[in-house]
Amino acid sequence: MKPQLFITKSYLPPKEEYLELLSLIWDNHILTNEGELYKRFQELLKGYSNSKYIIPLVNGAIALQLAIRALELQGEIITTPFSHFASSGSLVWEGCKPVYADIDPQTLNIDPLEIEKRITKKTVGILAVHVYGNPCDVEQIALVSKKHNIKIIYDAAHAFGSTYKNRYVTEFGDVSMVSFHSTKIIHTIEGAALYTSGKTINERIKKLSYFGMDNNRQFKQIYGTNAKMSEFAAAMGILSIKHFEANKSILKENFEHYHLLLNVSNRISFQKLSGEINYLYVPVIFESKLLKKKIKQVLESNNIFPREYFYPSLESIFNNHKQSCLISKSISERILCLPNSVYVNKDDINNVCRLILDNI
Ligand SMILES: Cc1ncc(COP(=O)(O)O)c(C=O)c1O
Repeated sequence: MKPQLFITKSYLPPKEEYLELLSLIWDNHILTNEGELYKRFQELLKGYSNSKYIIPLVNGAIALQLAIRALELQGEIITTPFSHFASSGSLVWEGCKPVYADIDPQTLNIDPLEIEKRITKKTVGILAVHVYGNPCDVEQIALVSKKHNIKIIYDAAHAFGSTYKNRYVTEFGDVSMVSFHSTKIIHTIEGAALYTSGKTINERIKKLSYFGMDNNRQFKQIYGTNAKMSEFAAAMGILSIKHFEANKSILKENFEHYHLLLNVSNRISFQKLSGEINYLYVPVIFESKLLKKKIKQVLESNNIFPREYFYPSLESIFNNHKQSCLISKSISERILCLPNSVYVNKDDINNVCRLILDNI
């Protein structure tokens, strides 16, 4: 039986390197609360963003909730139906109402024209997602936000290092969230960071993530939670960044190899890229729902486990089908993300593609 191949396999740096950083924790005896490793990780993140402030946190879902609170959003937020549950879940958790705008069938990102159609007096913000790290139409979204005086949060969970016209995507909008979950290209086992250039927003996020305390450990008019990143998590993040460029080039080669092999069939299409990405995800869109189902079964019977990512389209869960988003629904029924990680090699890819092409 061939070894199993999953959509991704978490990167683990050389064990000695992690142990070396852990020994520093033992020396300092500081395990959390913005210790030395936290600060080092934070500095390294600045090498991949020009945002003024970067706040490492416990995970992406909580980080999104903190962003909504820091911006004091209450009301309707226009968002994409083609994303992870956490994008809409965070809105609902914070008492906001997700209103869905359909996606662009090529880039798979929220369509700015659809956003504008959904704006009402109750709209307070936009939560857009850089799907698979592919930059949203940030310029058009900025125009809509300015015209209607509403805030923008970018869910950049997949978008570490992504650029749009040579600018890091985290520079756009009021706040961006990058996830450092263990499946991501940069990871802290569990973790995330919020990026902003707003001084007040930064201070609010810091307080909110630290029980509501300010720098002098005083509580002032704000109730917080505990969302701090630990030293153990930051240590993993430091090593993830150290190996980022090498890992990204493996992922890019894999991504390009998949595209080269699969580009021969007109029953498969790919996401149109609008900037530079980190190449972790390899989404392929099949001509029909039935074909996707068949290919998934063939791959699974060969111990290969692609993922229906994202499925289902979120309006079907969070909005009781009251709104229809036909493009997102159709794509979510026809898409599979193929296995990619630094542990996937060309033979694996040849095998996956052969199985797909033989059964198409
Ligand atoms: C688009 C998107 N947003 C948010 C999240 C939640 O991030 P986390 O797993 O760090 O909580 C994920 C998780 O993969 C995601 O894919």
